[in-house]
Amino acid sequence: MRLEILEDEEAMSRRAAEIIADAIRGKPDLVLGLATGGTPVGTYRELVRLYREGRVDFSRVTTFNLDEYVGLDPRDPRSYHAYMEEHLFRHVNLRPGATHLPDGWAEDLEAECRRYEAAVEAHGGIDLQLLGIGRDGHIGFNEPGAPWERGTRVVRLKPETRQDNARYFGGVVDAVPQRAISMGIRTIMHARRLLLLAAGPHKAEIVQRAIEGPVSRHVPASILQLHPDALVLLDESAASRLTRVRPGAERGRG
Ligand code: GLP
Repeated sequence: MRLEILEDEEAMSRRAAEIIADAIRGKPDLVLGLATGGTPVGTYRELVRLYREGRVDFSRVTTFNLDEYVGLDPRDPRSYHAYMEEHLFRHVNLRPGATHLPDGWAEDLEAECRRYEAAVEAHGGIDLQLLGIGRDGHIGFNEPGAPWERGTRVVRLKPETRQDNARYFGGVVDAVPQRAISMGIRTIMHARRLLLLAAGPHKAEIVQRAIEGPVSRHVPASILQLHPDALVLLDESAASRLTRVRPGAERGRG
């Protein structure tokens, strides 16, 4: 696991967008794994800027998102479908049909999980997976205790996670769906490269546990320590609880 610490969230977002744009330049038909939440918003804004400046071309890229809530119509503005349209898809030249999210509106959720996992495999797996981290260490919606050997599956959200996401549901925790479809830890670990982003002081404690603590199912993001090509980008505040300067850690210039 490599680590880069950037001055602030904006610098982290610029760096993340550059890494993704570089990957697309190196492999124009990249299979790109995408994340939602507040953290990657700046990264998507930067990618849109690079696209408008003619510095990245999405025309042959395929995307797969990590997760989607169960029981929300994809057209619901609170769905991750809508989030991705708003922050990235409608601004760049991704082909119609080249973007994939699990369908949390599907009648047969188990069949939908199998379909999604098979679609990832049919595209040869994910080349570069973008990740955020929940305050309890979740990646995608794989909460503490999630089995590592599982692919895409239906998950139940922890109260803390629903609380954190209530801001997208008018501040009403009960309005946040109780379940989601998420790529499993296995799906994520099969990606050839992982890029995890974290910014802000509220992430400092879990970042410290994920990076410096033992690899444990109680902290799903700690499994990144076992991935052969994982890069963590942090801003100064998210890095503030780290106690060791790890080999390979760099201070980015932003
Ligand atoms: C949600 C998403 C995760 C994301 C997490 C953190 O739970 N499913 O993929 O990493 O939120 O969100 P934020 O970036 O807003 O802190």
